Amino acid sequence: MPLLTAARVADIRPFYVMEILARARDLEAQGRSIIHMEIGEPDFVTPQPIIDAGKRALDRGYTHYTPAVGLTALREAVADFYDRHYGVRPSPKRIFITPGASGALLLAMALLVNPRSRVLTTDPGYPCNRHLIRLMEGEAVNIPVTAETNFQLTPAMIKEHWSPTTAAVLMASPANPTGAVCNRESLADITACTQRLGGVLVVDEIYHGLTYSNSAPSVLNVTDGAFVINSFSKYFGMTGWRLGWMVVPEDYQADVDKLAQNIFLAAPTIAQHAALAAYTAETSAILEQRRIEFMRRRDFLLPALRDLGFHIPATPQGAFYLYAGCDRFSDDSQTFAADILEHTGVAITPGLDFGTHKARRHVRFAYTTSMENLEAGVERLRKYL
Ligand SMILES: Cc1ncc(COP(=O)(O)O)c(C=O)c1O
Repeated sequence: MPLLTAARVADIRPFYVMEILARARDLEAQGRSIIHMEIGEPDFVTPQPIIDAGKRALDRGYTHYTPAVGLTALREAVADFYDRHYGVRPSPKRIFITPGASGALLLAMALLVNPRSRVLTTDPGYPCNRHLIRLMEGEAVNIPVTAETNFQLTPAMIKEHWSPTTAAVLMASPANPTGAVCNRESLADITACTQRLGGVLVVDEIYHGLTYSNSAPSVLNVTDGAFVINSFSKYFGMTGWRLGWMVVPEDYQADVDKLAQNIFLAAPTIAQHAALAAYTAETSAILEQRRIEFMRRRDFLLPALRDLGFHIPATPQGAFYLYAGCDRFSDDSQTFAADILEHTGVAITPGLDFGTHKARRHVRFAYTTSMENLEAGVERLRKYL
């Protein structure tokens, strides 16, 4: 029987890193020691107060749907969080609780992308973005970014790539895979430029909280007219709970509610109750310790990789990734990552997962493993390279 899959499926690629991960698991099953620097999630388990709140929710039988927009108490808690951290308090009605940032991105694209609409994104960038745009029958315009513009878009790039069918700009700060953070002035310039051209700005702020010098400004600091994507996955260490949120401009509320009802009905109820404990003083203290640990790891790994000959032009200010040029060793980062895994047991992600621009000359290291593992990993690489 021929498969009757829709045409879009052929254009949506699995992650290359999954091949690395599968091979790493095989090698582990054969008894090899593997150091995982390919995984884009914190190695820490969810903070205990959040786990306890989740258990209490289960014991109390909170196993039914919540409203599609999320629990009122959680929407209010998120609004208060913006007030405390950014000095702006969006109305809780503008906050939609979603199944991860993934659910928020899906909602945003379903809301904004018409067939053949164009959405401007960065190359390198988070791989799902272009696939979600394709899912909506739109077209991702992947704009090459380099260290020269801090791996972020500029108003000049946005103007250059704008066309009558462009609907939106989708960017992230801090970004995956580069860790690049947009300052307030750049965010304001990008916002003004996108709005002047008549488009919508969507900013993925999933790595907020994981910043190592200044905290990243939210696009809400410069406008009420952008969409903000965020999540409990990374900073709050809740990847497996599948919980995120989106802040939407006021006029879009009813449409987002309608789409959320139809696409996923509601975000996981237990996770929402658990996340109410994400903002307590006890949890905040745990998260701050973890942030400092991530910074310590970055401050070890960055000079160590440079010393080995990897090219990392600027110090990434956020997330937990180092996007490293591997020209000196290879012009095929996929083969390079596979070789490194076979010979050293260090698993890293080839650049091709994040786009095509100089992707074969880059790999991503995630410092989502212990200092001890990072040190051992660098030592193994030193011997091999
Ligand atoms: C930039 C970015 N956005 C969104 C996501 C999706 O995260 P989640 O659905 O777990 O919240 C990720 C995950 O790695 C990411 O790196």
